[in-house]
Amino acid sequence: MKKWNVASVRAAKGVRKLGCCTAYDACFARLADEAGVPILLVGDSMGMTMLGYDTTLPVKLEETVSATAAVARAAKDAMVVADMPFGSYQCGDDLAVANAVKCIQAGADAVKLEGGARVAGLIRRLVDSGIPVLAHVGMTPQSVNEYGGFKRQGKTREAADRVLADAKAVEEAGAFAVTLECIPSELAAEITAALKIVTVGIGAGPVCDAQWLVMHDLLGLNEKAPSFVKQYAQLAGDVRNAFAAYVEEVAAGVFPARR
Ligand code: KIV
Repeated sequence: MKKWNVASVRAAKGVRKLGCCTAYDACFARLADEAGVPILLVGDSMGMTMLGYDTTLPVKLEETVSATAAVARAAKDAMVVADMPFGSYQCGDDLAVANAVKCIQAGADAVKLEGGARVAGLIRRLVDSGIPVLAHVGMTPQSVNEYGGFKRQGKTREAADRVLADAKAVEEAGAFAVTLECIPSELAAEITAALKIVTVGIGAGPVCDAQWLVMHDLLGLNEKAPSFVKQYAQLAGDVRNAFAAYVEEVAAGVFPARR
């Protein structure tokens, strides 16, 4: 299989739906890559899944760069997308481009950032600098303080029109794909039909061109997952049982066995 890139992701629209997920380290990135996941997102969700925070806001650029390098070392065919953390693209476009360059130099094939019309100028600059951008509209978790919680967006016609306008703005600015997070399925379908670029849904129903799942939700490592998640394994229990069996066997003198 040839490595996924901007052209092959674009070409998938209307031809093949893409099941994509997050990855934050080389071990799981290798397994996902071998399984054929086309896009691995080094999501700022790592703040919650890996680092124990309640939101994505505390994630630092250095943490994203280090995780991106690990995922990129393991991913042979998957496209690797670095999710620019909060604070890395809000303090002026020059700094944002410099920070995106750090992600690309760490091995990312593209960057993702949150926002619609208000980041369209930055997306244009990044794309003009040779940095592919995967945009993110709808519920943008870095705006959690603005929303007062992780709240579904686009519920009224007026709010839906704002999300649609944001999606059109990022397409117009040159993004090659756009994440649609936690919006009504009908709105996601409307946006998917209106755009030429790939829509990647999460909590946005079945009509999007592609889907994201957070790796920990998909694998059942997070026991409490959002209602839209499908768990393809229940690893939390298996992992806990393996640790417990090890502790018990050492205590009982069963492991290690005499040789
Ligand atoms: O960080 C993340 O996991 C995301 C998801 C919405 C895909 O941005």
